[in-house]
Amino acid sequence: MKITFYGHACIGLKVEDVHVLIDPFISGNGKAAHINIDEIPADYILITHAHQDHILDVERIAKRTKAILVSNYEIITHYEKLGLEGHPMNHGGTWNFDFGKLKYVNAIHTSSFPDGSYGGQPGGFVIEGEHKTIYVAGDTALTMDMKLIPAQYDLDLAILPIGDNFTMGVDDAIIASKFIECDKLLGYHYDTFGYIEIDHEEAKRKFFEKDKDLMLLEIGNSIEL
Ligand code: NI
Ligand code: MN
Repeated sequence: MKITFYGHACIGLKVEDVHVLIDPFISGNGKAAHINIDEIPADYILITHAHQDHILDVERIAKRTKAILVSNYEIITHYEKLGLEGHPMNHGGTWNFDFGKLKYVNAIHTSSFPDGSYGGQPGGFVIEGEHKTIYVAGDTALTMDMKLIPAQYDLDLAILPIGDNFTMGVDDAIIASKFIECDKLLGYHYDTFGYIEIDHEEAKRKFFEKDKDLMLLEIGNSIEL
């Protein structure tokens, strides 16, 4: 599984030969100006919730790629009205896609569209594919529900928000990594705007002191899992 960081909370996964894009927000992110949005591949676009910093480029990318959107029922209904194709889910549900098995899990956050309309309830994803299992937390607070994940999954990687203010910060993300029983973490949802700027070295050191490995990727860079 190849994992690419496109800035903020936007992640690209390549699972076998299928391209899965999560929460595209690139054209509005000055730090991702070097990313050519019109070259990003997407067979599926997963959306954790309806906030602008997670959906801004959904239409632009989906219209070009014909990607199938996967999110909660309300977000999918919204995009189907705009002529895009989607697969609606809700919390606790799993589905076998051609990239692997996906579960829509709980997140503690809010989920309104930029115009204030209802965007369902926010979520995260557990994705099993290519013999790997990853957890993409979405925007969330630390929550006891995270303890449900290792009851069912043995995670190879977790992608956690660490920017604080709107989501967990570093200290809560360390507790989250204990709850989910995963030592390999990729941080996201930090530095994009003033409220969520973090000290990278301090964040990595704090995880390291708890025997956990926090990776922070340059925008556009990838890791192989
Ligand atoms: Ni949000
Ligand atoms: Mn956000």
